[in-house]
Amino acid sequence: MKFADRMEKIEPFYVMALLGRAKQLESEGVDVIHLEVGEPDFPSPSRVVKAGMEAMASGLTHYTPATGLPLLKNKIADFYLQRYGVQLDPYRVIVTPGSSGGLQALIALLVNPGENVLLTDPGYPCNRNFVTMYGGIVKSVAVSAKDQFQFSADTIRANWDNNTRAVLMASPSNPTGTVVSDEALIAIANTVASLEGTLIVDEIYHGLTYDQSLSTVLQYSDEAFAINSFSKYFGMTGWRIGWVIAPEVAVPGLEKLCQNMFLAPPTVAQYGAIAALEPEALVELEERRVEFKRRRDYLEPALRSIGFIIPASSEGAFYIYADISAFAADSYQFCIDLLEKTGVAITPGIDFGTINAKRYVRFAYTTSVPRLQDAVSRIEGFIATL
Ligand SMILES: Cc1ncc(COP(=O)(O)O)c(C=O)c1O
Repeated sequence: MKFADRMEKIEPFYVMALLGRAKQLESEGVDVIHLEVGEPDFPSPSRVVKAGMEAMASGLTHYTPATGLPLLKNKIADFYLQRYGVQLDPYRVIVTPGSSGGLQALIALLVNPGENVLLTDPGYPCNRNFVTMYGGIVKSVAVSAKDQFQFSADTIRANWDNNTRAVLMASPSNPTGTVVSDEALIAIANTVASLEGTLIVDEIYHGLTYDQSLSTVLQYSDEAFAINSFSKYFGMTGWRIGWVIAPEVAVPGLEKLCQNMFLAPPTVAQYGAIAALEPEALVELEERRVEFKRRRDYLEPALRSIGFIIPASSEGAFYIYADISAFAADSYQFCIDLLEKTGVAITPGIDFGTINAKRYVRFAYTTSVPRLQDAVSRIEGFIATL
């Protein structure tokens, strides 16, 4: 069978091979500690589950409008007012199947074949493949601990060329858990506007920050796109609901794309999402944030104490990006050996880019403190054998 040429350029997710092996070890009775999984270990809030079940039982199982239920759009707009003080016309809210749907629709909307998009290296791997799928060119930009592994206005200016169309960045970031300061975000938004490009900020880990609350890019720009999702903070990964806040002028184009690409976001999940925005659910989610902070506060110093170098602290999401060069030259092999010898699963840096990727691994603190303590003692034992 013949496949399209683009398939040569689509990269696999290396951690999936590791996850496959972890599952196999589990089936053989090994107690695997999963620090590779990029999703909350908590189930969806009970009110969300109830709302989804009620929607299904009462026959709300048909298509909704392509860009989402008006009630959900209104609720999302209210959420921006409460959380960020931003007044939004609900017309600008585009509900998508996960933020993955929103990211793909935005690339389709903005990028011509041959035009490039600036992405951070390290960064969220699927974005590279989305750009490639639409014929765009990925311009991976090395970001370092000096800039919290994030873009700065200067790096954007230095990497911009005549074919650059957009900048796509995430704050907090996957895999580093680092955030962009308000000052840097304002400078970035102004720089991209002055270069006549488009700024997309993936805010999927908003709500999961531990030392500060973040501003949305919408506070500083009417031209930027904000991406978000019910997956991470709201604990609804499997429901597949995300959203884009688009400038008004971009809404008709996005609506056309959503009609064709998705027909509509999942209906039952939208009713769950409406419940997730109710005050009672938000109280439960805040308790979970505090639990993630407890885990971060334990794991980061514990890893440092056994020799990992963490050049930029985890300020959000549930990730720590750690340098393993003191122990090994190849982080992929390090992850495989660690899994085989100790049952601790973590993600190798090569999933997130190429620059210095062999030096880094990502820890996800998506398990309880006692399990993290167990993991740290197993890792310490493993390192002693190297
Ligand atoms: C930075 C970032 N953006 C987007 C996504 C996609 O999430 P979803 O499609 O579940 O909203 C992820 C998932 O891990 C992510 O880490």
